[in-house]
Amino acid sequence: MVLSKGNDEGDRQKVAIVTGSASGIGYATSLMLARKGFYTYASVHNTNKSTSLESIANTERLPLKLIQLDVTDDSSVKHAVEKIVLEKGRIDVLVNNAGYGLFGAFEDLSLDEIKAQFEINFFGVVRVTQHVLPIIRTAQSGGGVIVNVSSVDGHIAFPVISAYCGTKFALEGLSESIAYELEPFGIKVILIEPGPISSNFMKGSVLAKRALDPQSPYAELVQKFNAKTSSQHENTTQPEEVAKTIIQAILDEKPEFRYVVGNYAVSLLEARKNMPYSEFQKMIIQNIMQ
Ligand SMILES: NC(=O)c1ccc[n+]([C@@H]2O[C@H](COP(=O)([O-])OP(=O)(O)OC[C@H]3O[C@@H](n4cnc5c(N)ncnc54)[C@H](OP(=O)(O)O)[C@@H]3O)[C@@H](O)[C@H]2O)c1
Repeated sequence: MVLSKGNDEGDRQKVAIVTGSASGIGYATSLMLARKGFYTYASVHNTNKSTSLESIANTERLPLKLIQLDVTDDSSVKHAVEKIVLEKGRIDVLVNNAGYGLFGAFEDLSLDEIKAQFEINFFGVVRVTQHVLPIIRTAQSGGGVIVNVSSVDGHIAFPVISAYCGTKFALEGLSESIAYELEPFGIKVILIEPGPISSNFMKGSVLAKRALDPQSPYAELVQKFNAKTSSQHENTTQPEEVAKTIIQAILDEKPEFRYVVGNYAVSLLEARKNMPYSEFQKMIIQNIMQ
């Protein structure tokens, strides 16, 4: 079934929820979904942070509502889902987008830093999806869509972001597995794999406490990697491009399972596919570590 835009006459309006809508990909996706007619719950964990989402929605008369949802907090997720069910009685689309990067060589990462990384990027998806699934599965006939925002780093691992790559590799595995389970219910699972995107990602990323300690044997590597990564994130693919891909996938009757976004990600994955792994490793070492 095509999830057509929800404002068509005789068609009950489709309901979407997006996590991490305060900025970047989540912000752009929430706006685009609302502009396509989905009643969109743009969820943010910090409602004190100002966002222009509501004022744009008011000006354009969009079906968009801001809702508080911290993906790390069970009761916050439960309340948000209950509120949506009370107000709309259904959820058709879930976009699991909230996430951040943790930078630092593996030996310099504390267990707490790694756990915090998984708590948002991986268990956040688990928590929200488990609360939303019973609603998506039963509240309507004709299926729904779960979009998980992964990364090219969910396929190819780089130094200095081992924990981040771990969360995205885990998300890829989880998504592949539940896609089989949900297919009989007509629910589609879609993975989005962006390369570097010009969002707040670098600003919102966390540098591990020990990462730049001059005593660390990895301090120079981390500095090199940070400089490289920061420049990659400037003036590159915009969050709107990712949002466009997400909306196209949601509206497609037969969507792909994976969507790679951005030239850098496409060429990197091509290189990984076409080069012997040892050659590929050399290329990464030359580009990042030397
Ligand atoms: N940018 C990239 O280069 C890139 C590449 C590949 C994949 N991705 C993935 O794309 C997703 C979105 O990132 P982005 O690029 O749009 O970066 P972003 O602009 O930093 O957006 C991330 C969003 O997640 C929110 N968030 C953080 N902790 C949260 C929590 N506990 N509960 C709910 N929301 C929370 C942030 O809110 P606050 O700002 O209020 O904390 C922010 O709105 C992430 O999963 C990221 O891993 C990004």
